[in-house]
Amino acid sequence: MCGIIGINSSKPVSATIINSLKKLEYRGYDSAGIATLSSGLINEIKSEGRVDNLEKNSLVQSMEGTIGIGHVRWATHGSPNSINAHPHSSQNVSVVHNGIIENSTLLKKFLVSKGHKFKSQTDTEVIVHLITEHLKTENIVNSIKKTLKALHGSFALGILFKDEPDLIVGARRGSPLAVGYGPSENYLGSDSYALKSMTNKITYLNDGEFCIIKKDHVEFFNEDGTKINKKVLELSSEEEKYDKGDYKHFMAKEIEEQPITLKNGIKEYVDSANNNINIYNIPWKKNEINSITLIGCGTAYHSCLMAKYWFEELTSLDVNVDIASEFRYRKNRFKRDSLYVFVSQSGETADTYAALDLCNKNGMKTCAVVNVIESSIARDSEFVLPIHCGTEIGVASTKAFLGQILILYILALKFGSLRSDLDKEKLSAKLSDLKNLPKLVEQTLLTDNKIQNVSSTFNEAKGSMFLGRGFSYPIALEGALKLKELSYVHAEGYPAGEMKHGPLALIEEGMPVVVLAPRDNYYKKTISNMQEVIARGAKVLLITNKSTNEIVSENIWETIEVESTNQDLLPFLLTIPLQKLAYYAALKKGFDIDKPRNLAKSVTVE
Ligand code: F6R
Repeated sequence: MCGIIGINSSKPVSATIINSLKKLEYRGYDSAGIATLSSGLINEIKSEGRVDNLEKNSLVQSMEGTIGIGHVRWATHGSPNSINAHPHSSQNVSVVHNGIIENSTLLKKFLVSKGHKFKSQTDTEVIVHLITEHLKTENIVNSIKKTLKALHGSFALGILFKDEPDLIVGARRGSPLAVGYGPSENYLGSDSYALKSMTNKITYLNDGEFCIIKKDHVEFFNEDGTKINKKVLELSSEEEKYDKGDYKHFMAKEIEEQPITLKNGIKEYVDSANNNINIYNIPWKKNEINSITLIGCGTAYHSCLMAKYWFEELTSLDVNVDIASEFRYRKNRFKRDSLYVFVSQSGETADTYAALDLCNKNGMKTCAVVNVIESSIARDSEFVLPIHCGTEIGVASTKAFLGQILILYILALKFGSLRSDLDKEKLSAKLSDLKNLPKLVEQTLLTDNKIQNVSSTFNEAKGSMFLGRGFSYPIALEGALKLKELSYVHAEGYPAGEMKHGPLALIEEGMPVVVLAPRDNYYKKTISNMQEVIARGAKVLLITNKSTNEIVSENIWETIEVESTNQDLLPFLLTIPLQKLAYYAALKKGFDIDKPRNLAKSVTVE
């Protein structure tokens, strides 16, 4: 992961670099650092933890220099301390890096044999010394070209040189990198979001390319070192202002914003006047697609899994779901009549991007369901369906999950009706229910006290389980993921019907178990599975939907009832109490809810 920034200006840059680093913190918050050139020397200041820590350092506040680079880190090689923080510098060269250098051990051996001294445990430091070594005999362009050739793995780099005080070099392979253009100053950043407060004129580097950033112009090169021309894109100049408002945490705000996310998505994709779906520009004919493969990571993978149930129910397509990091290295059978759908909030997740790249290279049809429309995954997919949920800051995804499953549900309805698997009346009834969904989510959000009360039990237990069948199974996985990433207690999502094949052995007296049993086709089966865990001492929190029919089971510890709707849409409502459960569990423990330990919002390493 990690975020990088570089600024070449005629004004002092340290304060602007610090501000940009704050925006990049969603990419990593283990440590932060900055390097500028002043009085003919590279000055480097780094600190463990958040950018705030770095900013507090009085040396940063008095830091001089009109050219500089900065970094926020998500540790890969070496623990997250200030020595391993970036930038890494020799006397002549300073480097910030996002990615992983896979052959760093071998390169380090070679460089040590040449007399180079290493200070950190990072893979990045080999880049510093390789460039320093090449600069002994080569000019800048050749040194960079040779260094990049020697590196295996992924990188986005920002490089500062003591003896070239008027330029910064940027380079990318595998990790994203953008160049921005300002008035008599130019920038380098991991993404346009980091640059947006300075400029809306952006050029994205492609894999293998590097650039030389001067104050008044930027030169681009391909991997052979040949100069190339690149397009300047003009992004919307409105910088989205997004703050916590009166909420304690972004996550709390983002949970409450979900009715708006759904309203926006429905407004965009449902043609209310004609009771139809507003996706008219699919670039393929309906008979060109007979199967669909949905690919994502983490929560986005759970969205894919959710979509599988809907696509199978509503269309006659063959449906596959894959975790991006698994898909990218398997021997896939690429089929001409397959559509590959990539689901990602950030649109920058390295594994998901690599899976997309693989599909593109194999000539497959690709579609992105993303939140960040300027992202790499959106840019490189043939067809893009934005989820329109606005900025999501909380590392634990909430509104983006609901946004993703909404768009995937609508896409399933679209394919169902295109292929005549779903007749007009059925589609119309489903769209009417869908239009009602934001209101139902709003009502479900009102359930709060009960969830606050039960959350301590989950914190105190040594582990918990989240069970569901059918449409509720992906939601059980998502609920368990939320709890473990926020409250650092073990939680396992499992298909309720699978418990008897092993995990039932985990159940002991007092273990909290969430059972998702809405009144859908799976209800009775799930209730039986629930009784099996209750019989073995589990403390069951049953989450179901309101109904006039009584729940026929004894010894349920607590029950939460969400609103009622058709069975396709119940997963949206079941998600809400699980998000709140994780939130309150972490709140009671006093953990950093928006930035859980060891994680980052955008995962740009594999
Ligand atoms: C968990 C979470 C992550 C992300 C995953 C993919 O709450 O947010 O599991 O879903 O890292 O990220 P995107 O959607 O940006 O590809």
